[in-house]
Amino acid sequence: MTKKIAVLPGDGIGSEIMEQAVRVLKALDLSLDIEYAPVGGTAYDLHGHPLPPATLKLAQESHAVLFGAVGDWKYDKLPRELRPEQAILGLRKSLGLFANLRPAVLYPELANASSLKPEIVSGLDILILRELTGDIYFGTPRGIRTATDGPFAGSKEGFDTMRYAEPEIRRIAHLGFQAAQKRSGRLCSVDKANVLETSQLWRDTVIEVAKDYPDIALTHMYVDNAAMQLVRAPREFDVIVTGNLFGDILSDEAAMLTGSIGMLPSASMNASGQGLYEPSHGSAPDIAGKGIANPLATILSAAMMLRYSLDSDAQAKRIERAVQLVLQQGLRTADIFEPGTTKVGTAAMGDAVLKALN
Ligand code: IPM
Ligand code: MG
Repeated sequence: MTKKIAVLPGDGIGSEIMEQAVRVLKALDLSLDIEYAPVGGTAYDLHGHPLPPATLKLAQESHAVLFGAVGDWKYDKLPRELRPEQAILGLRKSLGLFANLRPAVLYPELANASSLKPEIVSGLDILILRELTGDIYFGTPRGIRTATDGPFAGSKEGFDTMRYAEPEIRRIAHLGFQAAQKRSGRLCSVDKANVLETSQLWRDTVIEVAKDYPDIALTHMYVDNAAMQLVRAPREFDVIVTGNLFGDILSDEAAMLTGSIGMLPSASMNASGQGLYEPSHGSAPDIAGKGIANPLATILSAAMMLRYSLDSDAQAKRIERAVQLVLQQGLRTADIFEPGTTKVGTAAMGDAVLKALN
């Protein structure tokens, strides 16, 4: 059966890295119907909106979405609802992509790329499961108004609403426990229950769900402490489950521990297995068009897509092995280059992966 894939390259380096990922997908023996659509600032320039209706429709009708990156400083002055970031937030919300898997894996070949000492990070393999459609990101009311009470009455104030419903916490918690079952059997739930009501409900609900998983060792950690432990002893973590805002911050921190954010893929899934797959890094407008961006995170995102949405674990493994091989061959894009290795550009890295597939 032919599977429909929406390819949304987006802004900055998006189109360059996506080109390589699509080449890799096309080289596999799969029947894919690949359709492109503009998203982010690119879509705003073309159609006046970062997530045009035709792009959203294509995403909704596809088995999976392969997403590049969005954002560019030149759109910072636009009203919020027209900024590139709204495209990814809108896709997450309208496709119901509540479960965001962000692996942070240190490749042995890149042990020196981390800012931490090798003895602290070698072998690092963490999975952050971030809730993606709730929390302060989407909570209402929100806005900018004139304060009517407190010591700053009469001044302008900004306000957002952090909120989580119990079923929303429950469904992500279940996935956290299930992910832990497939890995080391340890799950750490991160919250701020010492201060926030939202977090108190989060913690109580996770403890409730834990009764279904007596085989899993559950721990709880406040987010500030988790941020600290991630740099102190990151290997103590295996699966982390957390809310949208804390997950945003901790996943960037965890990615940096690997020294190679250009290597990390991510998956955002809904209840029916439809998913959006994107590199963990951003659109890097400063290096766009130079042909030096690392396409491996996008290529590995395509592998995740094959595994989680297209039921092709064997093909996913084939891509992952090919990536491993090019690293072993010593090929590096500028972001992961170190003396003694061979620096290559975006297209040459794509060439090498294609060659390594066979
Ligand atoms: C991410 C990004 C997004 C987020 C931005 C681009 C809206 O930082 O995917 O982590 O905050 O979720
Ligand atoms: Mg982020």
